[in-house]
Amino acid sequence: MRRVALAGGSGRIGAALQRYWTGGGTEVVRLVRRPAGAPGEVEWDPAAGRVDGARLADCDVLVNLAGENIAGGRWTAERKRQLRESRLQATSALAAAVAGGPWRPQVWINASAVGYYGDAGETVLDENAPQGSGFLATLCGDWERATRPAEAAGVRVVRLRLGVVLEAGGGALAKLLPVFRAGVGGPVGDGRQWLSWIGRDELCRVVDTVARDDRFSGAVNAVAPEPVRNAEFAAVLSRVLRRPAVVRAPAWAVGAALGELGRETVLASQRAVPRALLAHGFDFAPGGLESALRAALTE
Ligand SMILES: NC(=O)c1ccc[n+]([C@@H]2O[C@H](COP(=O)([O-])OP(=O)(O)OC[C@H]3O[C@@H](n4cnc5c(N)ncnc54)[C@H](OP(=O)(O)O)[C@@H]3O)[C@@H](O)[C@H]2O)c1
Repeated sequence: MRRVALAGGSGRIGAALQRYWTGGGTEVVRLVRRPAGAPGEVEWDPAAGRVDGARLADCDVLVNLAGENIAGGRWTAERKRQLRESRLQATSALAAAVAGGPWRPQVWINASAVGYYGDAGETVLDENAPQGSGFLATLCGDWERATRPAEAAGVRVVRLRLGVVLEAGGGALAKLLPVFRAGVGGPVGDGRQWLSWIGRDELCRVVDTVARDDRFSGAVNAVAPEPVRNAEFAAVLSRVLRRPAVVRAPAWAVGAALGELGRETVLASQRAVPRALLAHGFDFAPGGLESALRAALTE
């Protein structure tokens, strides 16, 4: 890889990827939604569909993580519009730039989520499982389809369906830690729903691997091989923190507090497995969830 163009790079995953790549000697060019102020920045305006492809012409990898934070507030009609438009406009702008201009990266890795599969109960979800229903599943499907013009133009596109990314400084784990540390954590709902997760550093290795290895294209589940039930997640986290995990949050309380956001995230069941990564020999770190949580807490 010569250079990576990174959209949505100021977020949790983007910052981790930037550290990972620059630490390993790969140059990262960040697409920024403000005037470019530092070397290695190129301005873009995703809402207006403006991408300066000529300035990115020597980037052979594109990674797009851009979008308003899914868990950033209750899903009002306005919030849902922002969640959708921020992703669809950014992805469509990149697709148009890549399909029609002077810039033709070798690979485009576009974020998506295991939310694509909806609330799928006990079904084991590899990349061939169908799209589910609900706001998040519809959004993920449309987000993935927005990359199609680039694929039609001959670019290798990887649609990375991310599980919950474990890191202490942000995302779901950062919200759970104070609750569990206070000794008032525990399972959510009946605790039987499946949770698909991946450690942050493992995710960086996954992104690097699918960027370099041209056997990967289309949907790729970015999850650890061992999804766990919500109750098991709570038990392992409490063991790692040496705190009890006995306070169950009933589904009605989660629904009352978070509404649709709660029903489609913490209460939904996604038992996803990384079939494509395993098929191509990706070497997952040993130790499962407990080891990933311990690593996240020592970051
Ligand atoms: N973290 C997880 O557990 C997880 C799980 C499944 C899927 N994902 C998906 O993976 C992607 C990256 O996740 P993350 O945790 O790093 O998210 P994040 O911390 O919320 O970062 C997303 C980034 O998107 C950009 N952005 C925000 N609002 C935008 C808007 N209105 N228009 C265009 N860009 C906007 C921002 O970067 P700039 O300011 O640099 O533009 C922001 O830092 C997200 O799309 C997320 O939905 C994450």
